[in-house]
Amino acid sequence: MDFSEIVKSRRAASFFDPSKPVPQETLKRLVEMAAQTPSSFNFQPWSLVALENSEDKARLRKLAMDQPKITDAPLVLLVLGDRDAWKKGSEPFETNFDKMVEAGMPKEQYGWLADTAAKLYGQSEEAQQAFACKNAGFFAMSLMYAAKSLGLESHPMDGFDHDAVKKEFHIPDNYWIPLLIAVGYFDRSKEYPKAKWRKSFEDLVVAFS
Ligand SMILES: Cc1cc2nc3c(=O)[nH]c(=O)nc-3n(C[C@H](O)[C@H](O)[C@H](O)COP(=O)(O)O)c2cc1C
Repeated sequence: MDFSEIVKSRRAASFFDPSKPVPQETLKRLVEMAAQTPSSFNFQPWSLVALENSEDKARLRKLAMDQPKITDAPLVLLVLGDRDAWKKGSEPFETNFDKMVEAGMPKEQYGWLADTAAKLYGQSEEAQQAFACKNAGFFAMSLMYAAKSLGLESHPMDGFDHDAVKKEFHIPDNYWIPLLIAVGYFDRSKEYPKAKWRKSFEDLVVAFS
């Protein structure tokens, strides 16, 4: 399937075949494809919790508006955005800086990088939140397109009790969870969702004066 076909045919699929697990190899390929997502300064401020166990998914479903796709799908991903990954001293910041130095950046740029990132992302709670969510959102979209390219379906969900999910799954405080993604093979006994309306070019490209 070429990319335009992937983009056109991806739907939020509600019906998954519960008897068809996502092989570990496929999960690995999916995550490695999504790892190519661009991010602010290449901080890659995202992580995933992959729930495959029925009990875990049942615990999640209770906190996510009882959405059946959570337990029907063989795999549910908790997408995590790291609000602190821009901070000097954090593991993502330091690893990224080391890799940038390996790639030729002078070590003396450390202060510049730390200060610039702090100015952009550390001025307020809102800025930190936006940093985590915009980056993790791109990562999530890559996961969904990558899933489609691998013959999988996905369903993004933000209908869940954020703080309760964080508590239930022991997610550290620096993370925010922008969405969950159910992943699996479509239940072929059901009708595939129809494409919904989308804004037109004219609706999308705007100007303000
Ligand atoms: C961030 C986000 C959160 C969503 N949350 C839910 C949800 O909790 N439950 C649900 O049934 N659909 C959810 N959706 C699916 C949307 O309703 C769906 O993507 C949209 O209607 C367009 O349909 P399509 O993806 O099939 O093109 C969510 C989608 C996104 C991107």
